[in-house]
Amino acid sequence: MVYRKLDELTDDEVYAAYAPPAPDWLRVNFVSSADGAATLEGLSGPLSGEEDKRVFKVLRARCDVLLAGSGTVKAEGYGPLVLSPERMAWRKAQGLPEVPVMAVVSRSLAGLDPAMGIFTLAPRRPIVVVPADLPEATVGPFREVADVIAAGTGAVDFPAALAALRELGLRQILCEGGPRVFGELIADDLVDELDLTVSPLLVGAGPVRVAEGPAAKDARPLELRHVLEAGGNLILRYLRGSTDE
Ligand SMILES: NC(=O)c1ccc[n+]([C@@H]2O[C@H](COP(=O)([O-])OP(=O)(O)OC[C@H]3O[C@@H](n4cnc5c(N)ncnc54)[C@H](OP(=O)(O)O)[C@@H]3O)[C@@H](O)[C@H]2O)c1
Repeated sequence: MVYRKLDELTDDEVYAAYAPPAPDWLRVNFVSSADGAATLEGLSGPLSGEEDKRVFKVLRARCDVLLAGSGTVKAEGYGPLVLSPERMAWRKAQGLPEVPVMAVVSRSLAGLDPAMGIFTLAPRRPIVVVPADLPEATVGPFREVADVIAAGTGAVDFPAALAALRELGLRQILCEGGPRVFGELIADDLVDELDLTVSPLLVGAGPVRVAEGPAAKDARPLELRHVLEAGGNLILRYLRGSTDE
């Protein structure tokens, strides 16, 4: 385990600190207050600062696909997935397409609109991930602007949806939440890595935790890989630990 100050690391060292251990990998990135709140004034933004955004951007630059639930996309006002010229150049040097693909998970597509910039302005054709029994009248308009992964009945079956992403060659998956999607991924034991920023704030009662929704059967062990400190934020990298004793 390594403890480092983030501002003492070069960009290359930060990229190296987040090298994925396997070709198929699902990492989840969250920020939480020191007392466990996943939002402040309904958003994650006020919990994080410029310092930990550096890691956030490296994680985006390292993925093939960025997966987010519709609650997060709507609350945080996600626009098209774009990267800075430096990050695009880094990806190109790795032999990757200049930007990752955006994938939005929804049960209903309610409150999402094919005219939203996340679809119409996307540099790469996005994906919507929905249950297979969602009526075509609802899904159809999204086919104009996005590919559709249909998996599960009544709700997205995450193991099947992740397999479908991997079949498309989108093997490095970064999930930026939100809490209900993360809760489902934990319940299905699909999470390989949690990147968690703990911000030096007491928010108090009220906001959701980083994981909500269905209860997991067992607590999953994690291995702490490193701690980066930036402006009082602790940027933790956990890998899914072995359950073998
Ligand atoms: N602290 C952080 O790092 C962080 C990160 C992300 C988000 N947030 C915050 O979290 C809040 C949003 O929370 P949230 O839990 O609503 O976000 P979310 O997990 O992004 O979205 C929930 C939505 O995802 C869809 N969904 C979840 N499970 C599904 C399944 N099995 N099948 C199909 N669709 C499924 C549903 O969409 P439909 O309703 O469209 O059917 C559901 O309403 C916002 O306030 C945001 O700011 C914080």
